[in-house]
Amino acid sequence: MATEMALVKPISKFSSSTPIFSSSRYGKLTTVRMSSTSQSQPSPTTKSAGKKAAKTAIKETLLTPRFYTTDFDEMETLFNTEINRNLNQSEFEALLQEFKTDYNQTHFVRNKEFKEAADKIDGPLRQIFVEFLERSCTAEFSGFLLYKELGRRLKKTNPVVAEIFSLMSRDEARHAGFLNKGLSDFNLALDLGFLTKARKYTFFKPKFIFYATYLSEKIGYWRYITIYRHLKENPEYQCYPIFKYFENWCQDENRHGDFFSALMKAQPQFLNDWKAKLWSRFFCLSVYVTMYLNDCQRTAFYEGIGLNTKEFDMHVIIETNRTTARIFPAVLDVENPEFKRRLDKMVEINEKILAVGETDDIPLVKNLKRIPLIAALASELLATYLMPPIESGSVDYAEFEPQLVY
Ligand SMILES: [Fe+2]
Ligand SMILES: [Fe+2]
Repeated sequence: MATEMALVKPISKFSSSTPIFSSSRYGKLTTVRMSSTSQSQPSPTTKSAGKKAAKTAIKETLLTPRFYTTDFDEMETLFNTEINRNLNQSEFEALLQEFKTDYNQTHFVRNKEFKEAADKIDGPLRQIFVEFLERSCTAEFSGFLLYKELGRRLKKTNPVVAEIFSLMSRDEARHAGFLNKGLSDFNLALDLGFLTKARKYTFFKPKFIFYATYLSEKIGYWRYITIYRHLKENPEYQCYPIFKYFENWCQDENRHGDFFSALMKAQPQFLNDWKAKLWSRFFCLSVYVTMYLNDCQRTAFYEGIGLNTKEFDMHVIIETNRTTARIFPAVLDVENPEFKRRLDKMVEINEKILAVGETDDIPLVKNLKRIPLIAALASELLATYLMPPIESGSVDYAEFEPQLVY
C-alpha cells in the first residue's frame, strides 16, 4: 500500500519514549535489519558489525514500523453478503476485473540506469536516498502483509472481495520488491523475512483499518504523482530513475484507495454518524501531521530532488483532503491558513523534543525536559483537531439504499 497509516504514538527514530508520530510509510524504518551485499559498505546492523552495532539493532527494533492487524472475524461478518445487504457485489465484480487486468504487470522492469545513477549519488544525499528506499519499501511491505492476510481470511465469506485483497497484495509486493532492488543499487537489502517476524503489529478495528488505509493509499497516490510531475518538469533533479516509474505506480495506489472507498460505502454505519465524523477528522489529523513532521526531519531529501518540503507536503495534504472529502463525512479545514501555522508550530516543538534526545543528559533529565514539550505538542494537536471542520461526503447514507450508485 502506499501506506501512511499513522497513529498518535510516542515513537521516533530517536527513542521509543520520544513523543513523535510513528508511521509505517514515512516513519523511520526502525526494525529494518539491513544486510550488506558489499564488503565495502557494511551496514551498521549486520551481525558482524560488533557490539555497538548490535545495540543499534536492538534500539531499532523498539522502533519497528507499524504493521497492522485487525479483527478478521468482524471483517468476515462485514463482508458476508447475507448479513450486509449494502454490499454492492456488482461494483466489487467490476473492481475485481480492473485488478485482474493488471495494468502494471510489465511496468516494474529495471535497467542499468539504476546502478549507474546510484553510484553517482554520494555524500549526505546517498544516506538520505537509502533511508527513503528503506522507508518506502517497509511501508509497501506492510500493505502487502495486511492485504495478503485479508485475502486469505475473506476467501470463504466473500471470494470477490478476498480476491481483490490478494491482487492488491500482489501490487504491494511488487512495489516493495522494486524498492528493495533499488536498495541493492546502494549495496544494501532489506531483510523482509526478519521484518515479518519482528511483528510489531498494531491492532486496529476494521473501521479504523478502513479510514487509515484509505488515507494511506490516497496520500501515497498524491505523493508519488506530485514527485513524478515535478521531476518531469524539472528533469535536472532526476537523479535516480525510480521516480520515472511513479506515474503508473501511483495508479495502483489510487485503485487501492478506490477499493477502500467502495468498502466504506458498503459499510454506511462507518460513515454516517457523529462518531464517524470525529474519527474521520482524527485519522486525517494523524496522517497529515505524521507526514509533515517526518518530512520536515528529512528536508534534505526533498531539497535534493528540487522540492520545497513544506510546500510539497501542503500540496499533498490539500489534494488528499479534497479527495478524502468525497467519502469521509468530515475532514479538516486544511486550506485554512491556521492549519499550516499550527503544523509549523508542531514542527518547532518536535525539533526541540528531538534536540533533547541529542543532549548528553541522563534519561531522567531528558524525560523531565520533554514533559512540557510533549504537553505543548498535545495542546497544538488538540487545537488543530478542534478547528471548525468541513462537513463532507457525497451521499446521504441515512437512507441505506443498496442500489445507490455513488
Ligand atoms: Fe504500494
Ligand atoms: Fe497501495
